[in-house]
Amino acid sequence: MMVASPDVFKLGFVGAGNLAESIARGVAKSGVLPASSICTSHHRAERRAVFQCFGVTILDSSSQVVVDSDIVVLSVKPQIAKKVLFELRPFLTDEKLLVSIAAGIKLKDLQEWSGQHRIIRVMPNTPSAVGEAASVMCMGEKATKKDEERVTSLFNAIGKMWTADEKYFDAITGLSASGPAYVYIAIEALADGGVAAGLPRDLALALASQTVLGAAAMVFNSGKHPGELKDAVTSPAGTTIAGIHELEKGGFRGTLMSAVIAATKRCQELS
Ligand SMILES: NC(=O)c1ccc[n+]([C@@H]2O[C@H](COP(=O)([O-])OP(=O)(O)OC[C@H]3O[C@@H](n4cnc5c(N)ncnc54)[C@H](OP(=O)(O)O)[C@@H]3O)[C@@H](O)[C@H]2O)c1
Repeated sequence: MMVASPDVFKLGFVGAGNLAESIARGVAKSGVLPASSICTSHHRAERRAVFQCFGVTILDSSSQVVVDSDIVVLSVKPQIAKKVLFELRPFLTDEKLLVSIAAGIKLKDLQEWSGQHRIIRVMPNTPSAVGEAASVMCMGEKATKKDEERVTSLFNAIGKMWTADEKYFDAITGLSASGPAYVYIAIEALADGGVAAGLPRDLALALASQTVLGAAAMVFNSGKHPGELKDAVTSPAGTTIAGIHELEKGGFRGTLMSAVIAATKRCQELS
């Protein structure tokens, strides 16, 4: 019987920051690539040590990272993406794929600054650090089917991945990239409510976090609409409908919708 050989390629990170670390850790842990096939560089020893401790190869410069990689992930802050891509332009040859996670930087700008035509843009989020990222990708014109498969396998290693047209990326930033912060506030507020109702702080926070995790898993795993799940737990004249009444009076739904719209507009302004 023929056994398909694993697709081994070299992955490099330009910008060895938090997101790069989450992606590299997830990829190495999941076995999509051995850590020895991943490289990066950083001017600070402490960042080099973080990557080195789980087996990532450390090179002397970003240009060496590009030379040594099949897929180059641009993971610097958006403000310096243009400068960095201009510097790396001579090394970004045709056989390489450029993957940008820089928020708000469009494919056409990435192409103009890098001179590279094989590009995929990805918008992950910070739960990548615990393997629960919500990532969305859009393909540049010259990116191939194999590029798509490789990038999907990389980002599936840190969570879930969807594909969408680039015109949706500002709204994606407003929803899934900014969304963890909205949910952190919701968890904190639920815990505060528990404390106000007499619970010890530790227990209230643990229950609030697990309740959000469990509710999200119910939506994903049951395939049911959240409204249906809500109806199933609201008995007539019961406790839950009394709580929901307060949420509706406080404009809970409208406030969440406004948060996503405001963050989307801010992203449009910034890019
Ligand atoms: N955080 C999020 O929720 C999120 C979500 C989606 C997308 N993103 C995008 O992901 C990218 C990285 O974000 P992050 O949170 O990981 O930022 P970060 O932790 O600040 O990482 C950026 C890294 O790049 C390094 N760097 C600075 N100048 C450089 C240069 N010229 N060449 C190479 N490396 C350089 C920085 O080093 P120093 O610290 O020493 O300056 C830092 O280690 C950003 O473009 C962001 O828009 C972030």
